[in-house]
Amino acid sequence: MMTVSAPGKLMLMGEHAVVYGYPCIVSAISERLYVTDTPNGYSGDMRFIDAAIKLWGKPKMLLFATSAFSRKYGFGSSSAVTVAALKALRPDATNREIFESAYKIVLDIQGVGSGFDVAAATYGKTLLYVKGGVTLEELPWNLNTNGVSLVIGYSGVKADTASIVKDVARKRNEQKERVDRIFEATGKLVMQAKVAGDKGDWETVGKLMNFNQEYLRDLGVSTEKLEEMIAAAKKAGAYGAKLSGAGGGDCMIALVPKEKREAVEQAIASCGQLVNVTVHAEGVRVHTTDDQSEQFIVVDEQDNILGYKSRYECHHNKSLIHRTVGTAIFNTKNELLLLKRSKTKDLGAGLWDVSSAGHVNKNESYEQAARRELFEELGIENPLIFHSKTIFSDSDETEMQVLFTTKYDGKVTTNKEEIEDIIYIQPSQLPRKILAKEIRLSSWAEHDLKKLHIL
Ligand code: MEV
Repeated sequence: MMTVSAPGKLMLMGEHAVVYGYPCIVSAISERLYVTDTPNGYSGDMRFIDAAIKLWGKPKMLLFATSAFSRKYGFGSSSAVTVAALKALRPDATNREIFESAYKIVLDIQGVGSGFDVAAATYGKTLLYVKGGVTLEELPWNLNTNGVSLVIGYSGVKADTASIVKDVARKRNEQKERVDRIFEATGKLVMQAKVAGDKGDWETVGKLMNFNQEYLRDLGVSTEKLEEMIAAAKKAGAYGAKLSGAGGGDCMIALVPKEKREAVEQAIASCGQLVNVTVHAEGVRVHTTDDQSEQFIVVDEQDNILGYKSRYECHHNKSLIHRTVGTAIFNTKNELLLLKRSKTKDLGAGLWDVSSAGHVNKNESYEQAARRELFEELGIENPLIFHSKTIFSDSDETEMQVLFTTKYDGKVTTNKEEIEDIIYIQPSQLPRKILAKEIRLSSWAEHDLKKLHIL
């Protein structure tokens, strides 16, 4: 199984102007959206996932969002789900490739947007951003440390970004000179804030945020509630405060000296809703304990070595037959040891396996690999008996698999990163447990048990 997550975002400065080519500053937040290739209860808005699969997927490939952060705050779940889906489809893609394809998908579906949310979901951290990724510069703005912090408040009103962006465009058509002047001045504030923030001069950044808010008010995108919360935050000691995002509702942010954090939080909570997230979070990432670049041995149907390919390629291309091993462990009562694969495995996560299984590394024999796996997974060193060599294939991969057996009664020390649980079971009881769905086997465990005449 593969799980990928991408963060949501908060606009710190430069909203709206960024749509017209001026720079903005955006930070990725601690709220993350998860996408996985295993079916589960939640599937979210499938339009973005479907578009990602259409662009980068293979036929029949499925992906699911397993969780979503609340849509009401405007944290950018559409961008995060698109970025996470593309990364799940091609974990070896560069951030630039992901950013460009995700931006195209989001623009196709939503029609408007500068792509700053896609940039935050992809690259993470805090970025100076210009539309289309013309500028994508990571800023050293960790506002969770450095003696400052960012306090976030929700106004209680869900804003419709697309319609507000269109309203602003209409205003610009009517009063082009005035609105363009606002955008240009906003762009200047953003660049001044970058210089001040890079030096750690947060007081100046706060002042520039206040100016930015005045321009947003002039644009007509602020609301009474946002103004009330901003005023309360400033009165309680914030360096600066402004709305964040399109306006018309959603969130406001306040940049505060550490010692004033509690007072500002209370002030915001007294007239709005405090939102508990942190900024400067990590960009899109794959959650698996398996190193996707590990080199496996690729062979032909007669087991002649053809070359070496990464774990990722071998697990996504059925024509790459690669060498694997399995060992069935029986105790002296003739019970078979089964183990449950951890949820972070890239294949067969959470399923039951025959005692020990793994891949043959470059320069290793089948027996050496089986001994290594047995020791790494279960802490066992024991003589092995060759059982069979077969080609095994399922929907993901094709293996040249050698199966060994061993008799063992000693101590077992499980590797928690790879194994969730183990049991000893009388082979005759296994079919009933499988039927009752108490045990769900991996496809290769099923293959092994048939070879062993247990199933
Ligand atoms: C919306 O959160 C920010 C805007 O600048 C739109 C965009 O950049 O896509 C208003």
